[in-house]
Amino acid sequence: MISIVETTPYDDQKPGTSGLRKKVPVFQQKNYVENFIQSIFDSVAGYRGETLVIGGDGRYFNREAIQIAIKMASANGFGRVIVGRGGILSTPAASHLIRKNEAFGGIVLSASHNPGGPNEDFGIKYNVGNGGPAPEKVTEAIYARSREIDRYAIADVPDIDLDTVGSFSAGDMTVEVVDPVADYAELMESLFDFDAIRAMFASGFRMVFDAMHAVTGPYAVEILERRLGAAQGTARNADPLPDFGGHHPDPNLVHARDLFDLMMSYDAPDFGAASDGDGDRNLVIGRGMFVTPSDSLAMLAANAHLAPGYSDGLKGIARSMPTSAAADRVAEKLGIGIYETPTGWKFFGNLLDAGLATICGEESAGTGSDHVREKDGLWAVLLWLNILAVRKESVAEIVRGHWKTYGRNYYSRHDYEGVETDAANRLMDALRTALPNLPGRTVAGLTVEAADDFAYHDPVDGSVSEKQGVRVLFTGGSRVVFRLSGTGTSGATLRVYIERYEPDADRHDIETQEALADLIAAADEIAGIKKHTGRSAPSVIT
Ligand code: G6P
Ligand code: ZN
Repeated sequence: MISIVETTPYDDQKPGTSGLRKKVPVFQQKNYVENFIQSIFDSVAGYRGETLVIGGDGRYFNREAIQIAIKMASANGFGRVIVGRGGILSTPAASHLIRKNEAFGGIVLSASHNPGGPNEDFGIKYNVGNGGPAPEKVTEAIYARSREIDRYAIADVPDIDLDTVGSFSAGDMTVEVVDPVADYAELMESLFDFDAIRAMFASGFRMVFDAMHAVTGPYAVEILERRLGAAQGTARNADPLPDFGGHHPDPNLVHARDLFDLMMSYDAPDFGAASDGDGDRNLVIGRGMFVTPSDSLAMLAANAHLAPGYSDGLKGIARSMPTSAAADRVAEKLGIGIYETPTGWKFFGNLLDAGLATICGEESAGTGSDHVREKDGLWAVLLWLNILAVRKESVAEIVRGHWKTYGRNYYSRHDYEGVETDAANRLMDALRTALPNLPGRTVAGLTVEAADDFAYHDPVDGSVSEKQGVRVLFTGGSRVVFRLSGTGTSGATLRVYIERYEPDADRHDIETQEALADLIAAADEIAGIKKHTGRSAPSVIT
């Protein structure tokens, strides 16, 4: 039996950088989830009899949303749903399952690195058949539909037992509950030299992986401990919890402070890593050496050929605009293309599909490749391990060697969280108005060479995305970028990205904030951060 239920639209179902993210009570409003899922189905055509992949990061409300999605997929005519056991699928594992099963698309339930719980964050994201987040024209159609929706279809069938692997039916549709880890682990084995990594662990190499009570726990235990022979307990906080143990599952220097402190301590292991709520971000720290995500992208690209999956070399590298230019120097040396996209993994999809880029990365702790169409936290960790196993050097040696060859891009991001939305918009508007007058001006001792509002012209489909961040370039190659976050769920977050290029190896050991001090002062002067936000310091520095 299928019910067609009358509903009224909500006006706030606009997907952001990465799907629709709201507080749980917002999703719990009458028909809120149903409206959004029906809007997805109404905005894409041709799925009758096709496969839909569904899974999430296990946060509060995951199971409820999955049951609704399954029943609606059935009523709308999908032929099959593949769902991870327990409703669990890391975002990259979901991407892989979509591709492997040639599914029509997927629904990923997650709010990534944001906290979980009854009053915390939840999210719904739609991925298309290439396994990647829906492009803007699809998310815009979903939003437009959500503002007009007047009915949705749902099958009157009992809940599916999500905890048992097997095949079930929901009306005319088949539901396959699958092991969330198996296919993904197999994919990783096909890309990396597991024998070499196993030998490294066997010879005493020690690492810590902090799963932050989020989705990667089961993946890390299976891959690192069972398949690669890392010591038991290598994966910490490995049981996924609906509220992530009350923490932010955000692998940065604030929320993964324990890991950072351990790695800087006297008895640090050789390698430390962490991933976020849904398993697509990564944090990498060597003994006494933090690797910034921008540097990590450059270093992984420079060494990727050491892993079997990339032994033929890279086709190109792509990075988001605010990510540092460290990867550009690697691309230049390798003689391959470098692409600069707006923030948001969805912008890499076309480049990967067209074979223009093999490896992509973002300053926001995301790195990945053409093996899936999402960023992939454990993939980055395994590529680092593969490189360490082959080069037989420490992380710190590899990082220093890289800077010596290519120069160092000092880099930091200053976030001003929870700023009043109007104030943040006023700041950005004022900046945009001031753009034409900036070149030639001297601020905090630095001369502005160029300034613009980044617009992206997709080389594959010709689409244009405007207003993607204000960039101010100084003579000598340093720069400051300003943009508002597209992933927050309350107020606005101003992000200021600061970068200085330093070719001189004798100057590679300066403390980062010190190396960037004049640029930080210039950023405040140009944007009037204190004036507009009333804040005298950022809330998070990464
Ligand atoms: C998500 C997206 C990333 C993006 C990040 C930061 O993780 O998947 O692609 O870089 O959010 O976005 P924001 O708009 O908050 O800076
Ligand atoms: Zn994430």
